[in-house]
Amino acid sequence: MAEEVQGQAAEAPATSGVSESQIAVHWREEDYIQPPASFVSQANANDPAILERFSEDKFPECFKEYADLLSWDQTWHTTLDTSNAPFYKWFVGGRLNASYNCVDRHAAANPDKTAIVFVSEIESDEHVHISYGELLRQVNEFAALLRDFCGLKTGDRVTLHMPMVPELPVVMLACARLGVIHSEVFGGFSGAAAGSRISDSGSRVLITMDGYYRAGKMGDHKVKADEALEMAAKEGQEVDKVLVWRRRPGEYQSKTPMVEGRDFFIDELLPRYAGQTVEPVSMPAEAPLFLMYTSGTTGRPKGCQHSTGGYLSYVAGTSKYYLDIHPDDMYWCMADIGWITGHSYIVYGPLALGTTTVIYEGVPNYPDGGRPWRIAEQLRVNIFHTSPTAIRMLRKVGPEEPRKYNYHFKSMTTVGEPIEPEVWRWYFTEVGKGGAAITDTWWQTENGGFLGATLPGLQPMKPGSCGPSVLGIQAVLYDEEGNEIPKGSGKAGNICIRNPWPGIFQTIWGDPERFLSTYFRKYNKNPDSKDWRDWPYFTNDGAVIAADAYIRILGRVDDVINVAGHRLGTKEIESAALTVPEVAEAAAVPVVDDVRGRVVEMYVSLKPGFEASDEVAAKVSQTIDTTIGKIARPKNVWIVADMPKTRSGKIMRRVIASVSNFTEVGDVSTLANPEIVEQVREQVQTAKRERGQEQRELTETEQHEIKSFGES
Ligand code: WTA
Repeated sequence: MAEEVQGQAAEAPATSGVSESQIAVHWREEDYIQPPASFVSQANANDPAILERFSEDKFPECFKEYADLLSWDQTWHTTLDTSNAPFYKWFVGGRLNASYNCVDRHAAANPDKTAIVFVSEIESDEHVHISYGELLRQVNEFAALLRDFCGLKTGDRVTLHMPMVPELPVVMLACARLGVIHSEVFGGFSGAAAGSRISDSGSRVLITMDGYYRAGKMGDHKVKADEALEMAAKEGQEVDKVLVWRRRPGEYQSKTPMVEGRDFFIDELLPRYAGQTVEPVSMPAEAPLFLMYTSGTTGRPKGCQHSTGGYLSYVAGTSKYYLDIHPDDMYWCMADIGWITGHSYIVYGPLALGTTTVIYEGVPNYPDGGRPWRIAEQLRVNIFHTSPTAIRMLRKVGPEEPRKYNYHFKSMTTVGEPIEPEVWRWYFTEVGKGGAAITDTWWQTENGGFLGATLPGLQPMKPGSCGPSVLGIQAVLYDEEGNEIPKGSGKAGNICIRNPWPGIFQTIWGDPERFLSTYFRKYNKNPDSKDWRDWPYFTNDGAVIAADAYIRILGRVDDVINVAGHRLGTKEIESAALTVPEVAEAAAVPVVDDVRGRVVEMYVSLKPGFEASDEVAAKVSQTIDTTIGKIARPKNVWIVADMPKTRSGKIMRRVIASVSNFTEVGDVSTLANPEIVEQVREQVQTAKRERGQEQRELTETEQHEIKSFGES
């Protein structure tokens, strides 16, 4: 069966002619909500002149305002170089160091000011306050270790597989000091996932930690380093050194043995570098600062390469105007530094502006749903930034918890997924106590910083809509053929950005062709053009733009499932399932979940001679866990007799996604095996009812996503 499918795959797929991106969407437009006057009067952006300064005719020079927030060793001569479009260069000729900008200059001006507050998940542990002066010392010493013990130099790549601890920004900033490119892999990802990122980036050094607290338990994290190295070696990449932080210095939390000559405890090495200083290397603006891997349509994760000058300018500027960070704020972003949000808006943006950034180790609801509000009260957090999943979870476990605590947020942000108006309102009234401005920020790993959001002191909020495109960003909606869909038409389309911006990634590490084909070829009419106007950036998100230019994101149009704000590629999950010997075919689809947004559900069919059993299903689940991470663990694994397929053999993911979500499967008459749909529906929906997993009626946005899933 599998060979037959492969043999036919080159044929044109027999899908229906209607483009899903063109369907009209009719939901109720929410009313505007004005930000509180107390917020507006102190906001960094409360003078409408700023909109003028960033108007289209001021492009690209408008972004000088962001770059001017940084200290440059040498000023740039060209703001934007498009000679190799769409591989843009920003602030060409300029030189700077990111570590200097985030640490040294604040340490010089204000050494005792707190840069980072670390909050352990264990509530009885004291908060750790790290001043800018102390951060400078730690970054210098770690940079000396990287340089002298590891032999790392400018341009080398280093993989980090670290949890939410203050040592992580220390490592990132030490790399930046030397011009070493860091590539942090989310701590919750498996060793194998870290391993393939090590090999893709060509890292010789892995930096990890023995363990960390998660829901009250100390997990063994070091074990993943061994799995990572095994995977990297399989792919041809040898790692010479594994540097291991200990969560509690001097105590080793892992059962995994240290490998002689390869693994080193950092707390034993660091005393050798005590008091050493390392000059920040003056880097060209376009030198890569870091890689951040993310998922897409094909199986292999892509390493998004971010620049030093453009990226840092963009995160500093957007942190100032959209997060409304002032130097004296107490800012807490409850995301993970292992994702782009943490890089841009826990580490680089807030520290570039010299504010105090809070790092919380654990899960939001440990030991109970009041934990975030206690932290906010104790630390006097006044800016809070989190994801819709965390909000939904906190609302579920403690809808009235915020009332018990005496804190005051002036501004609150959400990121990563669409937020339902109902959840938005709880966030606004209960968490924000009606006194904070809410900014819903839409963007992606590839973008460096925000693309769509309201300027909180100038533009009213509209629940469920992220707001207009941000300063200097020109959003446009295209249909499949590249015709512009006018604002306010009620029609959905593919949202694109017309112009380049300083935070955009420079390329996919080692794969410039994929950079072009995934993001730029779709709407480019002249591949030789050096004019940026000919290279719209395709976000791979579907959206609707209202008459007031407010954007409503409908979700991905590629094969990505957004679980609790984490992007998972269906192909990666399916490839993992296919390594189970019994499995012949695998398909991953999203299921709507009231807390996590979406969760993954797997469909597999078995090779001839194998029987469906709970063991096989458990094996599939386990394999996904160890290859990708717990985040991708499927809610259910359905072993089906066959998959619904087109005549050319393409698995109809939208059909099984509809089955899993109890929504209309639509027209299946053109399938090669229409009769299987009813059989699969019966099997899956009966079992789901028995498990109490019947789905509520989907909203219009959810239906749109499910019914077009896997059509890219
Ligand atoms: C989705 C996270 C709706 C979107 C910063 C995007 C959102 C993908 C929002 C990127 C939002 C992100 N409203 N959807 N405010 N923010 N998304 O790369 O589909 O992890 O393409 O970057 O998340 O996820 P990524």
